[in-house]
Amino acid sequence: MTELSIPEFRARFPLVAAKTYLNSCSQGALSEDVRHAMAAFLRSWNDQGSPWEAWVDIVEQLRAAFAGLIGASPDEVAVMPSASAGINAIASAFGFDGPRRHVVAGEFEFPTMGQIWLAQERRGAQVTWAKAVDQTLPAASFDAAIDDRTLLVACTRVCYKNGFRTDVPAVARTARERGAYILLDDYQFSGSGRTSVRELGVDFMVTGGLKYLLGPSGVAFLYVRRDLIERLEPTITGWFGRVNPFEFRADRLDWPPSARRFECGTPPVPNACGALAGIGLLRRVGLETVERHVAALAGLAVDRAREAGYALLTSADPGSRGPLVVIRSRDAQALVARLQQKGVITSARDGGLRLSFHAYNTPEDVERAFAALAAEEALLERAVAAR
Ligand SMILES: Cc1ncc(COP(=O)(O)O)c(C=O)c1O
Repeated sequence: MTELSIPEFRARFPLVAAKTYLNSCSQGALSEDVRHAMAAFLRSWNDQGSPWEAWVDIVEQLRAAFAGLIGASPDEVAVMPSASAGINAIASAFGFDGPRRHVVAGEFEFPTMGQIWLAQERRGAQVTWAKAVDQTLPAASFDAAIDDRTLLVACTRVCYKNGFRTDVPAVARTARERGAYILLDDYQFSGSGRTSVRELGVDFMVTGGLKYLLGPSGVAFLYVRRDLIERLEPTITGWFGRVNPFEFRADRLDWPPSARRFECGTPPVPNACGALAGIGLLRRVGLETVERHVAALAGLAVDRAREAGYALLTSADPGSRGPLVVIRSRDAQALVARLQQKGVITSARDGGLRLSFHAYNTPEDVERAFAALAAEEALLERAVAAR
C-alpha cells in the first residue's frame, strides 16, 4: 500500500494542471511540498537568524532519506552541491601512479563525466571509450574496453540525449571480474524507479536532486561502497570533510570513517530542505508505483511515435530505456519552441526532442504532445521503413 495515489501525487504539482510538462529530464516540476519546505527554510532564517544545528540536522535527514532510497547506509552517502563535485572528489582520491591508470568511459556519458576524467590525464590517467553502436551502448562495448590496466569504469544508466538504458549490472560484473572500480552516473534515472546499489553492483554512484528526485538545483549525492571509504582520501576536500568540522583545526587533516570525508564546504541548506521534501513525496507514492507508471507512459510515447512514423533515437525495447523518449528532429530547438507555444514543455539535445515522464504525467499528456507534434511534421524526421 502506498500513502499517495498517482492522482493525489499529481495534484501536488500546480504546474502540470497548467501545462503539459514533459521535461523532468531537465528539471522536475515544483510540488507544494517542496515549495513549503523551502519557504520554511526562509522563515527559519528570517525568524531565528542562524539555526545551524537545525539546518545541519536537515542535511543529515536528507542523507538518510537518500540512502534509504538506494538501499545504502547513511554512512555511505555524501551530500554534494553537484554531481560534478562528487565525481571530482572520487577522481582526486586516485593517484594514477600504479599499473592501473586507465579510465573507461561510455560514449553516452554526460559531458561532465568525460571532462573530469580527461582532466586527470595531467595527473597520469588515460581515458579510453566504450563505443556506442548506433543509438545503443551494449555491455559488450565495455567488455571490449575493460582490461587489466583499467582502474575505473564510468558508466551512465540512462543517456541524457537518446534515453538508452545501459545494462549496469552486466558492466559492473565485468569491471569487478577484471579488478576495476565502477562509478555509475544515475542522474537521468534516480527518482523514476527503484534502485538498489547492492543489486546494481556499483562501487560509486553520483546523482542529483533536481530531476526525477523533484528537488531544486544545488544538491547532489555521492554513494561510496562501505569497504572503499577508508581506502580513499580525496585531495579536493574542506572542513566539512573532517571528523568534527566544528573543532576548527587548520593544522589537522583527519578523515571520518564515512562518506562525509568526500564533502567539502558548508552544505547547501536551502536546497537540502527542498530535496528532502521531494524525496519524502516520492517515498509516499512509492518508487515501484512511479516506475510502473513511467514505463507505461514511455511505452505509449514510443507506440505513438512509431504509429506516426517518426524516427526514434530511443530503443523500442522497454528493457533498454528509462523515463526519457527521444525523437529525431530536423531542428529540435525550433520544435521545442513551437511546442512551448502550445503549452507542451520539452527540451532538445543535439538532433533529439526529449520527452520525459514522471508519476505526475498522464496518458493525456502523451496524447496532447503527439497532437501538437502532428502539426509540426516539417520539423520531424521520418523513420526509415523496415524492408
Ligand atoms: C546524466 C547527467 N549527469 C550529470 C549531470 C550534471 O550534473 P551536475 O551539474 O550536478 O554536475 C547531468 C545534468 O543534466 C546529467 O543529466
